[in-house]
Amino acid sequence: MKRIGFMLAVLMLPFQAIFAGEGMWIPMLLKQLNEKEMQAMGMRISAEDIYSVNQSSLKDAIVLFGRGCTGEIVSDQGLLLTNHHCGYRQIQQHSSVENDYLTEGFWAMSKEEELPNPGLTVTMMKKMEEVTAQVLEGVSDEMSMEERKQKIDENSKALIEKAKEESGFQVVIKDFFIDNQYYMIYNEVYKDIRLVGAPPSNIGKFGGDTDNWMWPRHTGDFSVFRIYVDKEGKPAEYSAENVPFKPDYHLPVSLNGVEEGDFTFVFGYPARTSEYLPSYAVNLITEVTNPPKIKLRETRLDIFSKYANTDPKVRIQYAAKHAGVANYWKKMIGESKGIRRLNGIERKQDFEQDFTAWTKKENNRYQGIIPAFEDTYSELEKYSLAADYMREGGFGIELLSFAARFNKLSEVTKETTDEQLESMVKSAQLASESFFKDYHLPIDKEVAEALLEIYREEQADDFRPGFLNLIDRKYKGDVSSYVDQLFEKSIFTSQEEVDKLLQNFSHKQVKKILRDPAFEAYSSLRNFYDDKLGTPMKQLAARNDSLQRLYMLAQMQMQSDKRFYPDANFSLRVTYGNVDGYHPADAVYYNYFTTLDGIMEKEDPNIYDYVVEEKLKELYQQQDFGRYGDAKGHMPVGFVASNHTTGGNSGSPVLNADGQMIGINFDRCWEGTMSDLMYDPAMSRNIAVDIRYVLFIMDKFAGAGHLVDEMTVIQ
Ligand code: ARG
Ligand code: ASP
Repeated sequence: MKRIGFMLAVLMLPFQAIFAGEGMWIPMLLKQLNEKEMQAMGMRISAEDIYSVNQSSLKDAIVLFGRGCTGEIVSDQGLLLTNHHCGYRQIQQHSSVENDYLTEGFWAMSKEEELPNPGLTVTMMKKMEEVTAQVLEGVSDEMSMEERKQKIDENSKALIEKAKEESGFQVVIKDFFIDNQYYMIYNEVYKDIRLVGAPPSNIGKFGGDTDNWMWPRHTGDFSVFRIYVDKEGKPAEYSAENVPFKPDYHLPVSLNGVEEGDFTFVFGYPARTSEYLPSYAVNLITEVTNPPKIKLRETRLDIFSKYANTDPKVRIQYAAKHAGVANYWKKMIGESKGIRRLNGIERKQDFEQDFTAWTKKENNRYQGIIPAFEDTYSELEKYSLAADYMREGGFGIELLSFAARFNKLSEVTKETTDEQLESMVKSAQLASESFFKDYHLPIDKEVAEALLEIYREEQADDFRPGFLNLIDRKYKGDVSSYVDQLFEKSIFTSQEEVDKLLQNFSHKQVKKILRDPAFEAYSSLRNFYDDKLGTPMKQLAARNDSLQRLYMLAQMQMQSDKRFYPDANFSLRVTYGNVDGYHPADAVYYNYFTTLDGIMEKEDPNIYDYVVEEKLKELYQQQDFGRYGDAKGHMPVGFVASNHTTGGNSGSPVLNADGQMIGINFDRCWEGTMSDLMYDPAMSRNIAVDIRYVLFIMDKFAGAGHLVDEMTVIQ
């Protein structure tokens, strides 16, 4: 109980400003913690306008889109905006060779043409309440980690059940400040979400992976959906009878644009950050595990590109894989570089010295934390590395990841029921279909050879899965001849043979799986994990978790006049900052906005990422920007600001001082991507597509002006 009283005391202290821009704040605490500062920075609305449980507020227009992005409602008929890369899967699923919406774009010209997306949900937070005292009831410092966890789970379950019953909402409890505070969150989940529009990929993904994580950017990264509900206005599964959702609030969109220095804020669902880690953890991430992961990914990407550049079919087959591998590859490079540039590890070390001095002076119970971190992280290092080599090296080979999908079938016995067998075979068939559709064997073989060379060379002797030793023993270290026989002998390289295996599958075929060299390699990775990594890693992680909980609490006690924000945890947050260019390098300055002129400068009909649509060129040549161009006659495309965002903030609205929407967030600048570990006011920038470009594309380019007419446009 004492702890909670202390927390409240911290929250009520007059705040000392931290870096402008840093922080992802809890909407319900804005009034208490941030309103004054936000208004001093230029905001003209109140915290109550942003988050209120008594009246409609901006929060009623913000949703979690699917499971990993943010979306916002922009009309009184449930029209919703998010990123193109957030709606990508849906757009792809509706695409075929005849109707290639990825390439051509898609626009529903009436509500009848809007396309349902089974499985896609939109989650809206109705309210949140602090429940720390209730969750921690009966928890004491003397409890073991397991006892503590068990008690917390028990309490949470009971609280959730009760709240669900009383409210009728979906209810979750999330921990904040690393298990030091708990909030109950009430959500409404909508299930009939239809695709309304998407620009062609030339616009929605302009610049592709080349420009990803970078500024200056010219991507029209948006797509349009609509929420449907039943006749009573309640969430319901798809039905032709459903009607457009009438929200309590929808965001007005402003055509007035942004100027350098303008106040902005971003309202959305940041996924994960780790701002309060000790130096040992930052070192492990940025200096120990990122570098080999980067190298292994780069190796794959080079091979993907080599083939993609000469074969258009392969380019399509490997487009999504390439994007997936490339996204975090690039992020990790930026992150490690950024931490070095900031001397991030030294800064954390300095802080730890002060911290230790403080614990000694106070003679409190936190004295052992830093040495304990040192111990666990030094032990964790070899396990983490081994796990990463396994994931990025071993399972970077598509064949092995595919063989893993046959694990269940490999355990079939006489006792397996027909029903169980049928469902296993069915899921293996589905896996096989989607695998072979996008599989190009020569790529995977080359990848296997390259990755295994690195894996063999770099992984310490006592952390090698069995099959690496097999290469040494049986193949005298000749990776290439091992890979040759792997691909020659395995049935998992051939759709025909896999089909044959799955036809009339019974326990008698199990041997065929078990003896397959690809399945053997997969099993060797899995056994290695089970025998050598799983248990110690879980123990070390649990130890670190409880250390981290205490360390968080201790930091807040030590810096009792600092205003703390909790790490991102996929709950709704507000972050605010200013529209601002930056200096990425000596003598270089990046302006805060981009325009259509830049798209024409980047245009290259021979490079896939930089092809410009004919229609867009025409509009450019005629300077036909309608009411969407800026005062100087340019068509704005993107802008940057110092809002502290992370993954999950994609699709979030960027709002101006009056709470009107001016852009859609979709990325961060590369030089600032270490903001998940350490925010840098000089370099950390979020990237948004200007709402004027979004409306221009809808209206002038796609002829879907009826969608703009639905919105509340401020001019
Ligand atoms: N970097 C952005 C994010 O983390 C956008 C990724 C999608 N774009 C791409 N070119 N892969 O999600
Ligand atoms: N692109 C990220 C997303 O999809 C946003 C970010 O990491 O800044 O959520």
